[in-house]
Amino acid sequence: MKGLILSGGKGTRLRPITHTGAKQLVPVANKPILFYGIEAIRDAGIEQIGIVVGDTHREIREAVGDGSRWGVKITYIEQEAPLGLAHAVMVSEDFLREEPFVMYLGDNLIIDGISSLVDEFRNDQPNSQILLARVPNPGQFGVAELSGGAKGEVGKVVKLEEKPKKPKSDLALVGVYMFDKNVFNAVKAIKPSNRGELEITDAIQWLIDQDYMVNPHIINGWWKDTGKLEDILEANRMILDTLEMRVEGKVDKDSRIDFKVVIEPGAEVVRSNIRGPAIIGKDSRIIDSYIGPFTSVNCNTEIRASEIEHSIIMENCRITDVGARIEGSLIGRDVEVSKSEFKPRAYRLMLGDNSRIGII
Ligand code: TTP
Repeated sequence: MKGLILSGGKGTRLRPITHTGAKQLVPVANKPILFYGIEAIRDAGIEQIGIVVGDTHREIREAVGDGSRWGVKITYIEQEAPLGLAHAVMVSEDFLREEPFVMYLGDNLIIDGISSLVDEFRNDQPNSQILLARVPNPGQFGVAELSGGAKGEVGKVVKLEEKPKKPKSDLALVGVYMFDKNVFNAVKAIKPSNRGELEITDAIQWLIDQDYMVNPHIINGWWKDTGKLEDILEANRMILDTLEMRVEGKVDKDSRIDFKVVIEPGAEVVRSNIRGPAIIGKDSRIIDSYIGPFTSVNCNTEIRASEIEHSIIMENCRITDVGARIEGSLIGRDVEVSKSEFKPRAYRLMLGDNSRIGII
């Protein structure tokens, strides 16, 4: 089997971060989201992984490399424009060469990994296997309608709809799909949807309509499509909660660290209180500050005389003397937030397009 990770796309829901970078490289517990997908596929025993890339291909190639770090071989597949998930499959045909494959959306996180799901696909050998999860807001996802199976059994997939106005069930498609070579006939047969994309839901519906075997699997573990800010923060919370305490940097005697806290090498904590789960990245400095639960501070960042909770701060930031607590925030690379010395007292902002700030 081969792996296919989709890492192109527009990322409109994560602007302004995606104006300058790939959303799949936003760090969750200081590790790019994309790396969790690579690891999940590698752990399922798959060594050949294709990554579909778009405008952000340079950044992704630089971060991922040839895959040797994970013991896998990475091939990059260029998609000329984000024309849909089924289009991404179409452009990957030469790489996949008729082998069955698992397709993984590069911004998805599945905490239990995918090894048992891939094993099930290998054993049962359906034409496709889809993963479903019960969600409170199915209208925001691809939704599956199943026919009633026997007691205790999952039924058959009858219909799939992309972001339906009136969802027929609460079963959302999780961003991991498995296919055999018949999917190429499907992606070539379908037409673009109203939003102009070749939809994977339409391709799977085509397989169902042609009587191919499409097996549903309902997962109970935690998963997240991290396309939006709230979801990235939740993913960060879930992953941080799985960390074990590890202090490799310096913590002075006037500081206090509680619960699951990771201090990476070269990091320094001075006269500060860090309440985990939290991670302080390599060569970062936390001075006279409070870092609260569910916060990831990436490398080479300085936080001075400030309080931060439930947030992700990326690399090379300076946060100084901020009078109120920062929370529920995603702060990109090379950002400065500080108290202004200038008079008159005022907010002085330089914000990129689509920025969102909450002031008090
Ligand atoms: P989406 O999150 O559905 O789409 P998007 O990245 O364009 O984001 P938004 O809706 O905020 O504008 O994409 C899921 C994953 O698949 C994501 O990792 C990007 C990737 N993708 C491709 O590689 N090619 C494509 O044509 C599309 C639509 C998505």
